[in-house]
Amino acid sequence: MQPKVYEVNDTRKKAVVVTPQTLFTGQQLIWLPACTSTNTEAQALIVQNRASEGCTIITDFQTAGRGQRGNQWEATPAENLMLSVVWQPTFLAAAQQFLLSQAVALGVHDWASTLLGPDPRLKLKWPNDLYYGNQKFGGILIENTLSGSKIQYSIIGIGLNVNQQRFVSPTATSIGQLTGRAYAREALAARLLECLEQRYLQLRAGQVGQLRRAYLQVLYRYQEIHLFEIEGRQVSGQIVGVEDDGRLAVAIGNELRRFGLQEIRHV
Ligand code: BTN
Repeated sequence: MQPKVYEVNDTRKKAVVVTPQTLFTGQQLIWLPACTSTNTEAQALIVQNRASEGCTIITDFQTAGRGQRGNQWEATPAENLMLSVVWQPTFLAAAQQFLLSQAVALGVHDWASTLLGPDPRLKLKWPNDLYYGNQKFGGILIENTLSGSKIQYSIIGIGLNVNQQRFVSPTATSIGQLTGRAYAREALAARLLECLEQRYLQLRAGQVGQLRRAYLQVLYRYQEIHLFEIEGRQVSGQIVGVEDDGRLAVAIGNELRRFGLQEIRHV
Protein backbone atom coordinates (compact mmCIF):
# COMPACT_ATOMS: atom_id res chain seq x y z
CA MET A 1 0.00 0.00 0.00
CA GLN A 2 1.28 3.49 -0.81
CA PRO A 3 1.90 5.60 2.30
CA LYS A 4 -0.53 8.45 2.90
CA VAL A 5 0.56 11.85 1.55
CA TYR A 6 -0.87 14.74 3.55
CA GLU A 7 -2.00 17.93 1.87
CA VAL A 8 -0.35 20.92 3.53
CA ASN A 9 -2.36 24.13 3.42
CA ASP A 10 0.38 26.54 4.35
CA THR A 11 -0.47 30.04 3.07
CA ARG A 12 3.23 30.87 2.88
CA LYS A 13 4.00 28.18 0.33
CA LYS A 14 5.11 29.05 -3.23
CA ALA A 15 3.58 27.50 -6.34
CA VAL A 16 6.74 25.72 -7.46
CA VAL A 17 6.61 22.59 -9.58
CA VAL A 18 8.96 19.87 -8.41
CA THR A 19 8.06 16.41 -9.71
CA PRO A 20 10.53 13.82 -8.45
CA GLN A 21 10.13 10.32 -9.85
CA THR A 22 10.11 8.74 -6.41
CA LEU A 23 7.92 6.40 -4.38
CA PHE A 24 7.51 8.78 -1.45
CA THR A 25 10.40 11.23 -1.08
CA GLY A 26 9.19 14.71 -2.01
CA GLN A 27 5.66 13.56 -2.87
CA GLN A 28 4.52 15.92 -0.11
CA LEU A 29 6.53 19.05 -0.85
CA ILE A 30 6.36 22.60 0.46
CA TRP A 31 8.53 25.36 -1.01
CA LEU A 32 8.66 28.38 1.29
CA PRO A 33 9.96 31.82 0.22
CA ALA A 34 11.66 32.14 3.62
CA CYS A 35 11.75 30.48 7.03
CA THR A 36 14.00 30.26 10.07
CA SER A 37 15.29 26.77 9.24
CA THR A 38 13.78 24.01 7.10
CA ASN A 39 14.73 21.54 9.86
CA THR A 40 12.62 23.57 12.30
CA GLU A 41 9.71 23.65 9.83
CA ALA A 42 9.97 19.88 9.39
CA GLN A 43 9.99 19.35 13.15
CA ALA A 44 6.82 21.46 13.48
CA LEU A 45 5.02 19.31 10.88
CA ILE A 46 6.08 16.14 12.71
CA VAL A 47 4.79 17.48 16.01
CA GLN A 48 1.46 18.36 14.35
CA ASN A 49 1.30 14.83 12.83
CA ARG A 50 1.20 16.35 9.32
CA ALA A 51 4.46 14.98 7.92
CA SER A 52 4.13 12.04 5.51
CA GLU A 53 7.09 9.71 4.98
CA GLY A 54 9.39 11.64 2.60
CA CYS A 55 7.80 15.02 3.35
CA THR A 56 10.12 17.75 2.01
CA ILE A 57 10.44 21.42 2.92
CA ILE A 58 12.49 23.63 0.59
CA THR A 59 13.20 27.30 1.06
CA ASP A 60 14.77 30.22 -0.79
CA PHE A 61 16.12 31.78 2.37
CA GLN A 62 16.75 30.85 6.01
CA THR A 63 17.04 33.42 8.78
CA ALA A 64 18.51 30.94 11.25
CA GLY A 65 19.95 28.07 9.20
CA ARG A 66 21.83 25.57 11.33
CA GLY A 67 25.04 23.74 10.50
CA GLN A 68 27.23 21.07 12.05
CA ARG A 69 29.19 21.71 15.28
CA GLY A 70 26.69 24.45 16.32
CA ASN A 71 27.62 26.63 13.31
CA GLN A 72 25.20 28.76 11.31
CA TRP A 73 24.43 27.93 7.68
CA GLU A 74 24.52 31.07 5.52
CA ALA A 75 23.42 31.25 1.89
CA THR A 76 22.43 34.13 -0.41
CA PRO A 77 18.66 34.27 -1.11
CA ALA A 78 17.12 32.25 -3.97
CA GLU A 79 20.41 30.99 -5.39
CA ASN A 80 20.96 27.71 -3.60
CA LEU A 81 19.16 24.60 -2.40
CA MET A 82 18.18 24.36 1.26
CA LEU A 83 15.84 21.57 2.18
CA SER A 84 14.80 19.06 4.79
CA VAL A 85 13.38 15.60 4.16
CA VAL A 86 11.47 13.69 6.82
CA TRP A 87 11.88 9.93 6.85
CA GLN A 88 10.76 7.33 9.36
CA PRO A 89 13.64 4.82 9.44
CA THR A 90 12.04 2.73 12.17
CA PHE A 91 14.04 -0.25 10.84
CA LEU A 92 17.23 1.33 12.23
CA ALA A 93 18.40 1.16 15.83
CA ALA A 94 19.56 4.42 17.37
CA ALA A 95 23.07 2.95 17.42
CA GLN A 96 22.93 2.66 13.61
CA GLN A 97 22.38 6.39 12.98
CA PHE A 98 25.62 6.73 11.11
CA LEU A 99 24.41 4.33 8.41
CA LEU A 100 21.67 6.81 7.58
CA SER A 101 24.20 9.63 7.52
CA GLN A 102 26.35 7.61 5.08
CA ALA A 103 23.36 6.79 2.84
CA VAL A 104 22.31 10.45 2.70
CA ALA A 105 25.84 11.66 2.01
CA LEU A 106 26.15 9.13 -0.82
CA GLY A 107 22.79 10.22 -2.24
CA VAL A 108 24.00 13.82 -2.39
CA HIS A 109 27.33 12.68 -3.85
CA ASP A 110 25.43 10.72 -6.55
CA TRP A 111 23.44 13.89 -7.31
CA ALA A 112 26.61 15.98 -7.59
CA SER A 113 28.14 13.37 -9.90
CA THR A 114 25.24 13.82 -12.30
CA LEU A 115 26.22 17.51 -12.55
CA LEU A 116 30.01 17.36 -12.33
CA GLY A 117 30.56 13.94 -13.87
CA PRO A 118 32.32 11.03 -12.16
CA ASP A 119 35.22 13.25 -11.05
CA PRO A 120 37.78 11.96 -8.51
CA ARG A 121 37.92 15.47 -6.97
CA LEU A 122 34.30 15.06 -5.86
CA LYS A 123 34.53 13.77 -2.27
CA LEU A 124 32.69 13.32 1.02
CA LYS A 125 34.58 14.88 3.87
CA TRP A 126 33.87 13.01 7.10
CA PRO A 127 31.25 12.87 8.33
CA ASN A 128 29.14 14.28 5.49
CA ASP A 129 30.43 17.46 3.86
CA LEU A 130 30.40 17.72 0.08
CA TYR A 131 33.77 18.68 -1.30
CA TYR A 132 35.28 19.38 -4.69
CA GLY A 133 39.06 19.36 -4.36
CA ASN A 134 39.64 21.33 -1.17
CA GLN A 135 36.45 23.40 -1.42
CA LYS A 136 33.11 22.75 0.24
CA PHE A 137 29.87 23.15 -1.72
CA GLY A 138 27.39 21.41 0.56
CA GLY A 139 26.63 20.16 4.02
CA ILE A 140 24.18 17.91 5.83
CA LEU A 141 22.60 18.22 9.26
CA ILE A 142 20.57 15.20 10.39
CA GLU A 143 18.37 15.50 13.46
CA ASN A 144 16.83 12.27 14.75
CA THR A 145 13.90 11.70 17.10
CA LEU A 146 14.36 8.48 19.03
CA SER A 147 11.72 6.20 20.50
CA GLY A 148 13.47 3.90 22.98
CA SER A 149 16.35 2.32 21.10
CA LYS A 150 14.82 3.00 17.65
CA ILE A 151 14.83 5.98 15.30
CA GLN A 152 11.28 7.24 14.96
CA TYR A 153 11.78 10.28 12.72
CA SER A 154 14.80 11.59 10.94
CA ILE A 155 15.03 15.14 9.60
CA ILE A 156 17.59 15.24 6.80
CA GLY A 157 18.70 18.87 6.40
CA ILE A 158 20.75 19.57 3.29
CA GLY A 159 22.35 22.82 2.13
CA LEU A 160 23.89 22.92 -1.35
CA ASN A 161 25.57 25.87 -3.05
CA VAL A 162 24.12 25.90 -6.53
CA ASN A 163 24.12 29.29 -8.32
CA GLN A 164 25.94 31.47 -5.78
CA GLN A 165 29.08 32.95 -7.36
CA ARG A 166 30.74 34.84 -4.51
CA PHE A 167 31.83 33.50 -1.14
CA VAL A 168 33.58 35.10 1.81
CA SER A 169 35.52 31.92 2.51
CA PRO A 170 38.13 30.83 -0.08
CA THR A 171 37.32 27.22 0.78
CA ALA A 172 33.67 27.52 -0.29
CA THR A 173 32.36 26.99 -3.81
CA SER A 174 29.18 26.14 -5.69
CA ILE A 175 28.19 23.78 -8.47
CA GLY A 176 27.61 26.83 -10.70
CA GLN A 177 31.04 28.25 -9.95
CA LEU A 178 32.61 24.90 -10.80
CA THR A 179 30.76 24.42 -14.11
CA GLY A 180 30.20 28.04 -15.18
CA ARG A 181 26.49 27.31 -15.60
CA ALA A 182 23.27 28.58 -13.99
CA TYR A 183 20.74 25.97 -12.88
CA ALA A 184 16.97 25.78 -12.47
CA ARG A 185 16.71 24.76 -8.83
CA GLU A 186 13.37 22.95 -9.28
CA ALA A 187 14.89 20.36 -11.63
CA LEU A 188 17.93 19.97 -9.40
CA ALA A 189 15.73 19.46 -6.35
CA ALA A 190 13.75 16.73 -8.11
CA ARG A 191 16.95 14.93 -9.09
CA LEU A 192 18.34 15.24 -5.58
CA LEU A 193 15.20 13.70 -4.06
CA GLU A 194 15.48 10.80 -6.51
CA CYS A 195 19.16 10.20 -5.63
CA LEU A 196 18.40 10.38 -1.92
CA GLU A 197 15.54 7.92 -2.13
CA GLN A 198 17.63 5.41 -4.08
CA ARG A 199 20.26 5.33 -1.32
CA TYR A 200 17.56 5.25 1.38
CA LEU A 201 15.95 2.22 -0.31
CA GLN A 202 19.37 0.58 -0.49
CA LEU A 203 19.73 1.08 3.26
CA ARG A 204 16.19 -0.15 3.91
CA ALA A 205 16.99 -3.29 1.85
CA GLY A 206 19.89 -3.98 4.23
CA GLN A 207 22.66 -3.43 1.67
CA VAL A 208 24.88 -2.03 4.38
CA GLY A 209 28.19 -3.48 3.14
CA GLN A 210 27.72 -1.80 -0.24
CA LEU A 211 26.97 1.55 1.40
CA ARG A 212 30.03 1.35 3.65
CA ARG A 213 32.31 0.45 0.74
CA ALA A 214 30.89 3.20 -1.48
CA TYR A 215 31.40 5.75 1.33
CA LEU A 216 35.06 4.82 1.81
CA GLN A 217 35.64 4.97 -1.96
CA VAL A 218 34.78 8.67 -2.01
CA LEU A 219 36.01 9.66 1.46
CA TYR A 220 38.17 12.82 1.42
CA ARG A 221 41.84 12.07 2.21
CA TYR A 222 41.14 8.41 2.95
CA GLN A 223 44.42 6.53 3.49
CA GLU A 224 46.46 9.69 2.85
CA ILE A 225 48.83 11.17 5.42
CA HIS A 226 47.70 14.66 6.48
CA LEU A 227 47.63 17.08 9.39
CA PHE A 228 44.74 17.02 11.86
CA GLU A 229 43.93 19.24 14.82
CA ILE A 230 43.41 17.18 17.98
CA GLU A 231 43.04 18.78 21.42
CA GLY A 232 44.42 22.07 20.05
CA ARG A 233 47.57 20.45 18.60
CA GLN A 234 48.50 19.66 15.01
CA VAL A 235 49.19 15.98 14.51
CA SER A 236 50.04 13.98 11.40
CA GLY A 237 47.80 10.99 10.80
CA GLN A 238 46.14 8.73 8.24
CA ILE A 239 42.41 7.99 8.04
CA VAL A 240 42.12 4.21 7.98
CA GLY A 241 38.37 3.77 8.38
CA VAL A 242 35.10 4.81 9.95
CA GLU A 243 33.60 2.85 12.85
CA ASP A 244 29.96 1.67 12.85
CA ASP A 245 29.16 4.41 15.36
CA GLY A 246 30.59 7.02 12.96
CA ARG A 247 33.86 7.70 14.77
CA LEU A 248 36.81 8.38 12.48
CA ALA A 249 39.62 5.83 12.81
CA VAL A 250 43.02 7.51 12.38
CA ALA A 251 46.47 5.91 12.52
CA ILE A 252 48.82 8.23 14.41
CA GLY A 253 52.33 6.84 14.61
CA ASN A 254 51.93 3.25 15.81
CA GLU A 255 48.60 3.96 17.45
CA LEU A 256 45.06 3.55 16.08
CA ARG A 257 42.75 6.18 17.57
CA ARG A 258 39.03 6.88 17.11
CA PHE A 259 37.48 10.34 17.16
CA GLY A 260 34.01 11.84 17.41
CA LEU A 261 32.92 14.99 15.57
CA GLN A 262 34.00 17.43 18.28
CA GLU A 263 37.40 15.76 18.81
CA ILE A 264 39.22 16.14 15.49
CA ARG A 265 39.35 18.37 12.45
CA HIS A 266 41.27 18.38 9.20
CA VAL A 267 43.95 21.11 8.95
C1 BTN B 1 27.03 21.84 7.73
O1 BTN B 1 27.37 22.52 8.68
O2 BTN B 1 27.81 21.52 6.85
C2 BTN B 1 25.59 21.37 7.63
C3 BTN B 1 24.74 22.41 6.97
C4 BTN B 1 23.29 22.02 6.81
C5 BTN B 1 22.47 23.18 6.29
C6 BTN B 1 21.08 22.78 5.92
S1 BTN B 1 20.24 24.03 5.00
C7 BTN B 1 18.74 23.18 5.16
C8 BTN B 1 18.70 22.60 6.57
N1 BTN B 1 18.16 23.57 7.50
C9 BTN B 1 19.07 23.98 8.40
O3 BTN B 1 18.87 24.82 9.28
N2 BTN B 1 20.23 23.36 8.18
C10 BTN B 1 20.15 22.43 7.06
